[in-house]
Amino acid sequence: MSKKVFVKTYGCQMNVYDSNRMVNALKPHGYEVSETPEDAYLVILNTCHIREKAAEKVYSEIGRLKQTKADMAAEGKNMFIAIAGCVAQAEGAEMMKRAPAVDIVLGPQTYHRLPDMMKSAEEQRAAGRKSSRVLDTEFPADTKFDHLPEESDFKSSAAFLTIQEGCDKFCAFCVVPYTRGAEYSRSIADVVAEAEHMAKNGVVEITLLGQNVNAYHGEGEGDSTEGLAALIRKLAKIEGIGRIRYTTSHPRDMDEDLIAVHRDVPECMPYLHLPVQSGSDNILQAMNRQHTREDYFKIVDQLREECPNLALSSDFIVGFPGETDADFEDTLDLVRRVKYAQAYSFKYSPRPGTPASVIEEQVPEDVKTERLARLQDLLNEHQLEFNEGMVGMEMDVLLEREGKQAGQLLGRSPYLQAVHVDLTKEYNAVDESPDRAYNGYMGKLVRVKIAEAGPRSLKGELVSVLP
Ligand code: SAH
Ligand code: SF4
Ligand code: F3S
Repeated sequence: MSKKVFVKTYGCQMNVYDSNRMVNALKPHGYEVSETPEDAYLVILNTCHIREKAAEKVYSEIGRLKQTKADMAAEGKNMFIAIAGCVAQAEGAEMMKRAPAVDIVLGPQTYHRLPDMMKSAEEQRAAGRKSSRVLDTEFPADTKFDHLPEESDFKSSAAFLTIQEGCDKFCAFCVVPYTRGAEYSRSIADVVAEAEHMAKNGVVEITLLGQNVNAYHGEGEGDSTEGLAALIRKLAKIEGIGRIRYTTSHPRDMDEDLIAVHRDVPECMPYLHLPVQSGSDNILQAMNRQHTREDYFKIVDQLREECPNLALSSDFIVGFPGETDADFEDTLDLVRRVKYAQAYSFKYSPRPGTPASVIEEQVPEDVKTERLARLQDLLNEHQLEFNEGMVGMEMDVLLEREGKQAGQLLGRSPYLQAVHVDLTKEYNAVDESPDRAYNGYMGKLVRVKIAEAGPRSLKGELVSVLP
């Protein structure tokens, strides 16, 4: 009989990719995916440690799971709880103590060993222990990428592909260098093989992932290493791959070659997430971002000169220790100058073990709240303006899933906007129920005329299905 595994994923896209990899590592051992934790044999929480709230959510979820586990035990059923990801890496043994219901704690670098960890947990349970104690948060010398089974069941025509992991930059606020470890790039050959495999299985759009994706330098032919630009050029040649994106980039690694790729490679989408965090030189320096606001403007100007239709997005932190009103005004000023198509913004959250967390001059919570609201108002204004500018335009949309309304599919524009495409007319014309007719459009790149724009999404009508 198959065992059910339920995975809940928090945090960044790399965790989404990792969760899929964990499930795929388990499948050959008789596991199948479950949509709820209630009847699951194994529940995995793939966690995020980036901000305090993200980490706390994990403990509340463990609290709920503890009850489910007890209820199942009362019915004579086994349930195992595994905590993976960045909270697991950061807290390790501490987590085992704080949450005794947890059976397995594993870090982002050891998930290929999960089937073995489960075996050990099962043995401990069989020997009569209520909770098994399996902890594996090492950074093994052999890489997990050498061990992973190939996935063949892609749920969507858009997929993530991790090419780089870890970070050597040590921004003063950030836990990633500690939870994901040192920077590591997969080889060109490995990435190309995985992308070819994805394309053969219906994937059209690949998002290359890395905490510092544009610092990528993978082993190429001979002894040389090659950068992200060279990799994208290779991937663009794979048959079936129509779109390539990459995230997250650091301004310091945005080199000329990569800018040229945006100009020359049509598969490389005209959208770039280039986090700046702050518009103040003082704060950028205190954050150890290793660039100035002027450096950032230079990169943006150059990008826009080479590719005038490029849309930008960013992450911002408000209330970093020592941030004054003037520093914050510099951030607003930078935003007005760059005008992002989209952005994420957060209140600074002190993280244990990071240099910024011990700076005495912390910004009061109410100031952070007020600054965040002002920044978000401005970012939202720009986002709406950007979206409204699309009305009347035709653009390519990759249809990825069903929309909320019947007869509607949801896809992404080249600029990563969510686009609802109404296909009722087309379905009626072929006299098919939407369910059956979806097959003709789902996963396809289509040409859409944009009819309406909102703050977070667009609506459009089908013009044609692209070959
Ligand atoms: N590698 C990316 C960022 C990864 S973390 C980069 O260099 O930009 C994702 C985002 O979370 C960051 O861009 C930052 O805006 C936010 N973040 C990270 N640590 C944070 C903290 N301690 N408090 C608030 N936001 C944080
Ligand atoms: Fe964190 Fe900075 Fe590395 Fe990004 S570059 S992952 S913010 S340390
Ligand atoms: Fe969170 Fe770890 Fe990603 S801390 S943002 S899950 S790298």
